[in-house]
Amino acid sequence: MNAIQLRQLFRDQFGYEEGVRIFFAPGRVNLIGEHTDYNGGYVFPAALTYGTWAAAAPSTSRMYRFASANFPSTATCTVTEELLYREEDDWANYPKGVLKELLQIAGLEGAEKFMGADVLYYGNIPNGAGLSSSASIELVTGLALSKLADFDIPMMGLVEIGQKAENRFVGVNCGIMDQFAVGMGRENHAMVLKCDTLKFRYVPLEIDGYKLVITNTNKRRGLADSKYNERRAQCEEGLSIIQQQLPLVRNLGDVSLAEWEKVHHYIEDDVIHRRVEHVIKENERVLAATKCLQDNDLYEFGARMKQSHISLRDLYEVTGFELDTLFEEASKVEGCVGTRMTGAGFGGCSVSLVKEEAVDEFKEKVAKNYSEKTGLEPIFYVCEIGDGAKEIMYMGE
Ligand code: GLA
Repeated sequence: MNAIQLRQLFRDQFGYEEGVRIFFAPGRVNLIGEHTDYNGGYVFPAALTYGTWAAAAPSTSRMYRFASANFPSTATCTVTEELLYREEDDWANYPKGVLKELLQIAGLEGAEKFMGADVLYYGNIPNGAGLSSSASIELVTGLALSKLADFDIPMMGLVEIGQKAENRFVGVNCGIMDQFAVGMGRENHAMVLKCDTLKFRYVPLEIDGYKLVITNTNKRRGLADSKYNERRAQCEEGLSIIQQQLPLVRNLGDVSLAEWEKVHHYIEDDVIHRRVEHVIKENERVLAATKCLQDNDLYEFGARMKQSHISLRDLYEVTGFELDTLFEEASKVEGCVGTRMTGAGFGGCSVSLVKEEAVDEFKEKVAKNYSEKTGLEPIFYVCEIGDGAKEIMYMGE
């Protein structure tokens, strides 16, 4: 799909194409640092070149119309009505949630600028695969609607709006990682982010001779009905026990390994103990892995990826048969130096660091063995790391 085709689709949908502008927001892959974001810890994601495009034109009707080239359902809402989550609006609840948050942040005066718009979306991120298709649609909507309204808001503001829309409107209690990576991504860079202070740094992804391969288990999962919120609650329970010993600790991301050694026995419940242990050690792993990458030690980086998967499997228990099978089969391929699940887990995708010359063998062997064991066909994406949300200026793109 290029911009010309997207404009054509916009015209088919809305009957005109004057004033159309095109926006893009990527999906993301998290290289390491899983289930640490809502604990105020570190994450290390990067933006993909897969994503969501939005062809959008302003109107003065005070009406917002959202349509998609991927899904049949559409939604129309006016700025004067109360914006409510409606099951039948399906995917369009994401743009509605973003619009609601934008209007709220704009306040009475700013809201005047939001006169209406028509938006046609097209996306190529597999849904429910853990590559942040929802954050992608949130960010592309925030960017498009704010630009069309000439409402000045920094990208970090749109990142927070996306997360709030997801938390308050859609009802998934996610952390900030996905929206951050999708909004702030930079070509050929990953980002190490501390999720409570939002301090971050770009790290060049110099992996010459290697490829990042994303493998989709093709086991569908929905975050909302997963055990995601349960894990969050378990972390909070663990945190409150630790805080009785270490009152200055604000979140699990603050707890060092040395402190953990001192206080871990206060957590008597075995499940809570394992959840917290994962978070604290994963947090340390992010920093160690980032350093490996900067030192160009891809073997050590890959080793950290594998440790992360094992911890998510044994301590955090969010992998499951399909992701564990992918992990085992990928680990058997000699040219695969690192592999792990990415995203929330419970299905979705893994990410592997594979020597360029071994990519074909990797795909072949993993596909064969994974299918034999699970009865599912995996899909591979040899991925490029791209930019965060932006307006697309060139017609050929
Ligand atoms: C999902 C959430 C993120 C993060 C990951 C797990 O992708 O949206 O906020 O919690 O799971 O690391």
